Amino acid sequence: MKVRILLFAGIFLLVLLIAANLPAKSTVFTLITDMFNQISIKPQKKGSMNAFVIGAVSVDGSEIEDPEDRFSRIVRDIISETATPNPTKPDAVSLADGNLKFDTYCAVCHGTTREINKEGFAKTKINELGMIAPAVIILTPFFSDGYIYHKAKYGGSVMPAMGYAVAARERWNIVNHIRTLEKQK
Ligand code: HEC
Repeated sequence: MKVRILLFAGIFLLVLLIAANLPAKSTVFTLITDMFNQISIKPQKKGSMNAFVIGAVSVDGSEIEDPEDRFSRIVRDIISETATPNPTKPDAVSLADGNLKFDTYCAVCHGTTREINKEGFAKTKINELGMIAPAVIILTPFFSDGYIYHKAKYGGSVMPAMGYAVAARERWNIVNHIRTLEKQK
């Protein structure tokens, strides 16, 4: 009996020793460490959020070649000639879904009209509580479809990324709905 307990204690200690020497620091025991050890931006490293690592792959799958270049992808979508084209026709189905998804995920901050509060942000309850979301349809006439689509996915400096909530087709539907909201007085 004693031998068995000693044997188990020995194995347990051995496992702990191996685990402590594995490179992944996020968990005590990780068998596959590929995700941790790949070329990537480690936020805890000094300066790494300001200059992207060469060879790192961004969320859209494109490879970072110039660490100083953080914005050309966004700029491309700002210019209407180079922006990602909207593949979704604004038919009744698209507009109905866009209306539903905009009211569910965007209107809480941005409102559905051009109305603004005295600070100049959208007249919504959350802005009264300190959020700083613009009445978005004042701005969107200046933006390409692709830009709004990517904004909904990735968010901004303050706006949360909403890509987890609205899939690609739904984001195009939201864009189509925003274009109809823009037409209101
Ligand atoms: C929690 C509040 C919040 C929600 C929800 C939200 N936004 Fe925003 N949004 C903001 C704020 C704050 C800004 C301005 C600062 C920034 O860009 O981060 C903004 C900016 C924008 C802009 C202007 C971009 C620019 O470059 O000026 C667009 C377009 C936009 N949002 C679209 C959307 C869409 C579409 C949704 C729904 C999928 C959405 N937002 C949901 C807070 C929000």
